[in-house]
Amino acid sequence: MKIYKKLFWTLLQGFVLLPTIALRDSHVVNRKLIDVPQFERPIGNHTFHIGKEAVLGCSVINLGKHKVGWLRAEDQTVLSLNDRVVLSPRYSVNLDTPSTWQLRIRPLRAEDRGCYMCQINTQPSMKWQIGCIDVYVPPDIINEETSADVSAQEMDNVTLLCRASGHPPPKITWRREDHEPMLLKKVGSRDFYKVESYVGSSLPLWRVDRRQMGAFLCIAANDVPPAVSKRIILNVNFSPTVIVPNQLLGAPLGTDVILECTVEAYPNTINYWLKNRGEMLLDGPKYVIGEERSSYRVMMKLTIRNFSKNDIGTYNCVSTNSLGKSEGTLRLYEIKLYPSSQSSAEVNIGGLTEGAVKQKSQYNSSTTFPRTIAIIVLLTLLQVY
Ligand SMILES: *[C@@H]1O[C@H](CO)[C@@H](O)[C@H](O)[C@H]1NC(C)=O
Ligand SMILES: *[C@@H]1O[C@H](CO)[C@@H](O)[C@H](O)[C@H]1NC(C)=O
Ligand SMILES: *[C@@H]1O[C@H](CO)[C@@H](O)[C@H](O)[C@H]1NC(C)=O
Ligand SMILES: *[C@@H]1O[C@H](CO)[C@@H](O)[C@H](O)[C@H]1NC(C)=O
Repeated sequence: MKIYKKLFWTLLQGFVLLPTIALRDSHVVNRKLIDVPQFERPIGNHTFHIGKEAVLGCSVINLGKHKVGWLRAEDQTVLSLNDRVVLSPRYSVNLDTPSTWQLRIRPLRAEDRGCYMCQINTQPSMKWQIGCIDVYVPPDIINEETSADVSAQEMDNVTLLCRASGHPPPKITWRREDHEPMLLKKVGSRDFYKVESYVGSSLPLWRVDRRQMGAFLCIAANDVPPAVSKRIILNVNFSPTVIVPNQLLGAPLGTDVILECTVEAYPNTINYWLKNRGEMLLDGPKYVIGEERSSYRVMMKLTIRNFSKNDIGTYNCVSTNSLGKSEGTLRLYEIKLYPSSQSSAEVNIGGLTEGAVKQKSQYNSSTTFPRTIAIIVLLTLLQVY
């Protein structure tokens, strides 16, 4: 009986105590789990600007007497251990209490781009996590790969190039410096289309035209200010073309007569006036010679003072540059004013002779010129031709 009792007791012990022991064991395991160092949150991926400071945080709980190290993930170079920096004065570590180990890199360089590992020296296997940094670099024009000023013949194919470094890769935009729209043409097309700007590192100008001449800006921009630009001048060379707005000019004697020619040419021209295909006219009391330039256009202006019988004849405006020569012809006639010729204020006859009579030198009458006379003048002219 005693033996049975003992056995029962033993069994009871076994049944009752075993789970207790198991319970105690699992409690120990649980406590161990909690005591093991753990990462609180991921490091994450971050973006920083070059030259500034990068900060990565590694948050650890239950570190105990373990140590936290930072490594460069790429080559496993150890950068720091707890609060001790192993490498380079650009790195530093600090404990952002209570539990975040911060790796700081300053000043940041492009080669710092990459991933960094935070490690805890747990046994038997280390615990680690990774975070990456991207280093943003502002744009910079690469001069060797960017066009200098360009000089081309009209109808040549021209391509302007512009390249820039930077991270993320910069976007290249072209526009005219004078803010006029750019004229572009598709290969094989005769017609231009207008755009405010053009995106791309090469700007193709197929069969370049004089109207495309000017200063261009290539602007490189990414998410990092400041954007940068380079100015590229495109010169289109072509021989002179002379346009004469009014080839036939009639004027009353005694007035000042203005003769005009428009020249288009590049590079710049030498311009002069000839009378009756002989004498070159010089600026002086009788003739006033002037020019108004705007880009590749020149307005040549000859004023003949006190128009007289001697001035009747043929005039040539002549323009030359290194590529050629061109001229325009104007014919000057006397307009007879009748019934009387004593007044000649503003004469506005329009058409062929517009601009011929702009000023008068001899008379200063306040009476306005009758419109009927203007019409007679016009008819006279038409009769002449
Ligand atoms: C961080 O960047 C790395 C490499 O660029 C990438 O593999 C990883 O998926 C990124 N992690 C997150 C959370 O975006
Ligand atoms: C310009 O390009 C077109 C087509 O690409 C070609 O046919 C033409 O000969 C080129 N003109 C010059 C002057 O190189
Ligand atoms: C204009 O020319 C006429 C004759 O050609 C001359 O008699 C007159 O004095 C001149 N007038 C002026 C203001 O020079
Ligand atoms: C011409 O006449 C106007 C008004 O009749 C006068 O104001 C002006 O001074 C005169 N000019 C000359 C050059 O005499």
